[in-house]
Amino acid sequence: MARLEHNNIQLDSEGRLRHFLTIEGLGRDLLTRILDTAESFAALPGRPVKKVPALRGRVITNLFFETSTRTRTTFELAAKRLSADVLNFNVSTSATAKGETLLDTLRNIEAMHSEMFIVRHSQSGAAHFIARHAAPGVSVINAGDGRHAHPTQAMLDMFTIRRHKGDFAPLRVAIVGDILHSRVARSQILALNTLGVTEVRVIGPRTLIPTEARALGVHIFHDLDEGLRDVDVVIMLRLQKERMDGALLPSEEEYFRLYGLTNERLENAKPDAIVMHPGPINRGVEMDSEVADGPRSVILRQVSYGIAVRMAVMSLCIQTHAEVPA
Ligand code: CP
Repeated sequence: MARLEHNNIQLDSEGRLRHFLTIEGLGRDLLTRILDTAESFAALPGRPVKKVPALRGRVITNLFFETSTRTRTTFELAAKRLSADVLNFNVSTSATAKGETLLDTLRNIEAMHSEMFIVRHSQSGAAHFIARHAAPGVSVINAGDGRHAHPTQAMLDMFTIRRHKGDFAPLRVAIVGDILHSRVARSQILALNTLGVTEVRVIGPRTLIPTEARALGVHIFHDLDEGLRDVDVVIMLRLQKERMDGALLPSEEEYFRLYGLTNERLENAKPDAIVMHPGPINRGVEMDSEVADGPRSVILRQVSYGIAVRMAVMSLCIQTHAEVPA
């Protein structure tokens, strides 16, 4: 979880979404617009023609410098459903491996008339950096940067919650686990508070909850049973071992004993509470398979909804670009 200082370069002079880098600084109306636009795309898989022409003739580039399963593939599918031409930049087979800088890579792909870059990078701020240097008429969407932000993940999570629970206002939402290293948690907390839920709780060991979390408007719990009591939504997070510098946990077994979600512990939440996880899941570490695959889990639906939400974000950003000549 990291905070970056930035001016809101995400909006154009008319207040429209040009880049989507963070939830920070975006209002409830804009977040609701993304959700409503996604709703119109969510029906497409059930239709005989699953594509719309919104991005026909546009070039979209997936620029992933870090591994991904769900985000990269759903962005690709979303762009194809919008009829765009998609470039998938593979870092391991690109000239990055020969020392080409990020900006030179950007300029070269811009020269191929790419109008949108979907960026994942291990460094917090990488997507902002590219957005600040992008040519006019180019949009940047943050697909996860370091510990900072993962705004489209947060929006597909909000879409999932709205689909299953309706109104945000009465909801109590618990986010459980490694809050410290989580770009997802930070984006979710900002989105949930902007959309006006009753309460956001974060639950985890003291070593994995940053001291500044309270300033984001959450209630902190270190006891899982207490934190889950009467919540409507439980969001489990992965232990991000690749981002842990020192020994923050005694062992995975001990972590599961204290913070792993089992059916028994889920009894503390409301009877109709849903269980979410952004993936990838560490079964037997964050949660029992019985819960992950159980009737209250909406984890795979989150992935499906991600396509519609990413279509919505791309189609809103492209509205700030000039028309492609016929
Ligand atoms: N939730 C998420 O970002 O998953 P991937 O790392 O597979 O994209």
